Amino acid sequence: MAKRVVVTGASSGIGAATVRRFAELGWDTVAVARREDRLRALAAETGAHTIVCDVTDEAAVARMADEVRVTGGASGLVNNAGGALGTESVETGLNDDWRRMFEVNVIGLRNVTAALLPVLREATLVAPAPGAGLEGIDAGHGWASILNLTSTAGLNSYPGGAGYNAAKYAAHAVTEVLRLELAGEPIRVMELAPGLVHTEEFTLNRLRGDAAAAETPYANVTPLTADDVARVLVGAFEQPPHVNQDLIVLRPVAQSSVFHTHRGPLAAKPQQP
Ligand SMILES: NC(=O)c1ccc[n+]([C@@H]2O[C@H](COP(=O)([O-])OP(=O)(O)OC[C@H]3O[C@@H](n4cnc5c(N)ncnc54)[C@H](OP(=O)(O)O)[C@@H]3O)[C@@H](O)[C@H]2O)c1
Repeated sequence: MAKRVVVTGASSGIGAATVRRFAELGWDTVAVARREDRLRALAAETGAHTIVCDVTDEAAVARMADEVRVTGGASGLVNNAGGALGTESVETGLNDDWRRMFEVNVIGLRNVTAALLPVLREATLVAPAPGAGLEGIDAGHGWASILNLTSTAGLNSYPGGAGYNAAKYAAHAVTEVLRLELAGEPIRVMELAPGLVHTEEFTLNRLRGDAAAAETPYANVTPLTADDVARVLVGAFEQPPHVNQDLIVLRPVAQSSVFHTHRGPLAAKPQQP
């Protein structure tokens, strides 16, 4: 099986950067999102096969999985589609926002994983060519990889984050359960939890289009870029297939925790005598 990976939420930000990085390293890619025009532009740039699909729509996800299978299958899946809506407190939160966050970050992840697992399993049935560095007890079968994009918001809660925290904590839990349930199969299940990443749409969507407010979290700090995340993410897929990076937490140096972001230049300190 050629290296072919499905990336959801590929029309912007981390997902688009991930498709670019995989393509640079010679992977075939399948880019999935709702906005066709953006997917088409990404395909022109990277050669990605594109599929327009809303991950919260189970029937559409089933059609997407069929298309993946008949166009070459897949040995990798990145569940990246997701996002945040609002910063209201528990007391003032809007249930519609909470439902939408749960739908895309949790139900969408489950829909795509369930639909593509049979396709990924097909990849594990194909033994690697001799000399591929996989000799030994595991030389007789192929391998597959799943990586879920969660967030440090799925590991630590913060005021105003409850709806998004709850959704990403749930995605973190689902990832752990999936790893347990697939134990014994040659399918690794990984999780990447980034902290502050400056992408063009994430905070803009969260703050309902308020462009000025959306820049505030990134003021006077060097955040991660989508490319930073993509390099680490694709690096996890490039490890030997028996190596499972269960949970990768990735932050900019200036952010030492969810609650501690250093604003202003980092200070190089001379060693005290
Ligand atoms: N930026 C950050 O600071 C940060 C930090 C930690 C974790 N994350 C997580 O990383 C992931 C990517 O974030 P990002 O910053 O790259 O966000 P982004 O630029 O807003 O991208 C989100 C992607 O998800 C897609 N998407 C949303 N709803 C969808 C649906 N129902 N069906 C299919 N695709 C859907 C969007 O495409 P369409 O609108 O075209 O469908 C878009 O491509 C998300 O899961 C986010 O929660 C982000």
